[in-house]
Amino acid sequence: MKKYWWQDTIIYQVYLRSFQDTNADGIGDLQGVIKRLDYLTWLGVDTLWISPHYDSPMDDNGYDVRDFYKVSPDYGTLDDFKTLVSEAHKRNMKVITDLVLNHTSDEHPWFKAAQDPTHPEHEHYHDFYIWQKPTYTKRGERTLPTRWVSWFGGPVWEYNAALDQYYLHIFSKKMPDLNWRNKTMREALKTMIKWWIDLGVDGFRVDASNHLEKNWDFPDAKPGYEHFSSLPKHHEYLEELGAELFKPNNLLIIGEAGGATKKEALQYAGFDSNEFNLLIQFEHCWADTDSDNTVTSGKWATGPLNLPKIKKSFAHWIDVFKNNGWNTIYWANHDMPRIVSHYGDDQRYHARSAKMLAYALYVLPGTPIVYYGEEIGMTNVDYEHLTDFRDVEVYTEYENFIRRGATHERAMQALRDRSRDNARSPMQWSDEAYAGFSPVSPWMKVNKNAASINVNLQRHQDDSILMTYKDLLALRKAEALAHGEATFIDLDHPKAYCVKTVGKSHTYIVVANFSDATLDYPIEPKLKGYKLFMINVSTIQSTNTLVPYEARIYRKRH
Ligand code: NOJ
Ligand code: CA
Repeated sequence: MKKYWWQDTIIYQVYLRSFQDTNADGIGDLQGVIKRLDYLTWLGVDTLWISPHYDSPMDDNGYDVRDFYKVSPDYGTLDDFKTLVSEAHKRNMKVITDLVLNHTSDEHPWFKAAQDPTHPEHEHYHDFYIWQKPTYTKRGERTLPTRWVSWFGGPVWEYNAALDQYYLHIFSKKMPDLNWRNKTMREALKTMIKWWIDLGVDGFRVDASNHLEKNWDFPDAKPGYEHFSSLPKHHEYLEELGAELFKPNNLLIIGEAGGATKKEALQYAGFDSNEFNLLIQFEHCWADTDSDNTVTSGKWATGPLNLPKIKKSFAHWIDVFKNNGWNTIYWANHDMPRIVSHYGDDQRYHARSAKMLAYALYVLPGTPIVYYGEEIGMTNVDYEHLTDFRDVEVYTEYENFIRRGATHERAMQALRDRSRDNARSPMQWSDEAYAGFSPVSPWMKVNKNAASINVNLQRHQDDSILMTYKDLLALRKAEALAHGEATFIDLDHPKAYCVKTVGKSHTYIVVANFSDATLDYPIEPKLKGYKLFMINVSTIQSTNTLVPYEARIYRKRH
């Protein structure tokens, strides 16, 4: 088995805008991350991934980059960034940043030149992006090049009258897609990547990596995702970056590639691939959608939880990367609901179900990514007004729901259940005003439950969610669970989660009830020689009966 530093690390994802404000403008900043480094060390984290810190008009909270070489004034200065890297390194912590390569902001100087025929460098930059001529009907009506649909809803094409051309944007219209077939553009991005490597970053998370190549025949289709997702040629681009920049610098590269197949996964992140080291593919992340109904569809269509789907996905990815690469374990990120609200219960069984989710995941092999606030069981937002939401996606989707006949309340419920803003509310540090995140009203409302769910409180409770995370992360390290062998038991059981993992000195069995009803589950015969190690309830009523969301870890020395 190969040995790289990132196989034994514990990654923590910080959503910069919402982690800690230090200059009283209501926005999280780099100094805020520096301030909390000791907390992260205490928790057991040793790699930090920060969401985009670049200068940006913030249409998509920084995934719309205006200047790759500048730190957003919202977040601080380049000196703050350098301080973050050096302070992290002093603590033996690595720092990886988000690399947004699929698109820029429409306010990026490249796009400004590209879209303006009078700009002196128009010719040079026009081809950095993807343009198509309209077709006109006999009656002179302009039609879109294709009916492809953007990931945020609505068409992927935006018209530019000065050029009489459309540009492609698979996310918001303020995020035009870059043309990766243009070598000069690729070289410009590589120069930029090198510049950040030279500043000392330890790696990157590559945003939207499977979308870099498009089908340049532009066949008509709706939604047409297959024409801008996972096309074979995008591997050539990633391979180029990997061979020239990633591998020679011993970086940790985490690739975001939703929907990857086994073959693709090894192409991205097999040990002998140059592209990535870790892969985020999201297979287990929407195991509770229903068949589409009239007003919502896709991730917005909430359905019953399909636990076998989650277990099978975990088992599948462990298997894919066995021997040939390295697994990555995570519950969620900034694009999903909060995990305790999503797969647990954020009301009656809040703490118990949050701990259950932690037991279930953090005994599995691979490198874990903890999402900020997950360690205290932060929940979905509880917003009453549409204007409380901030995500650009929310507004296009709200319109879609209403157009399809949803009432305002029904649409709001979908947003509260599924929107990305659920996972972007200010970190709950304490029960002070604004949860100790900021002394002023933050850019996005603090969840009302901050007085009862916060770091300060949980730090002083031995059985809190936070202490459970700390214990589990320490256990992972002590037992080298990242390298463990895991076997799922009763994969098809709809409510029981049972997995066995072999660690350094013990074998562990996790058993959990993923439901809000009491579950009879005959676990006793499997426990010969095992001793109870951790529980998320005060006492066990009976070995073969699990109360709602009860979870236990047993272990046996070998
Ligand atoms: C994936 C990121 O995780 C998401 O937040 C962002 O909106 C899109 N890529 C576009 O950059
Ligand atoms: Ca700030």
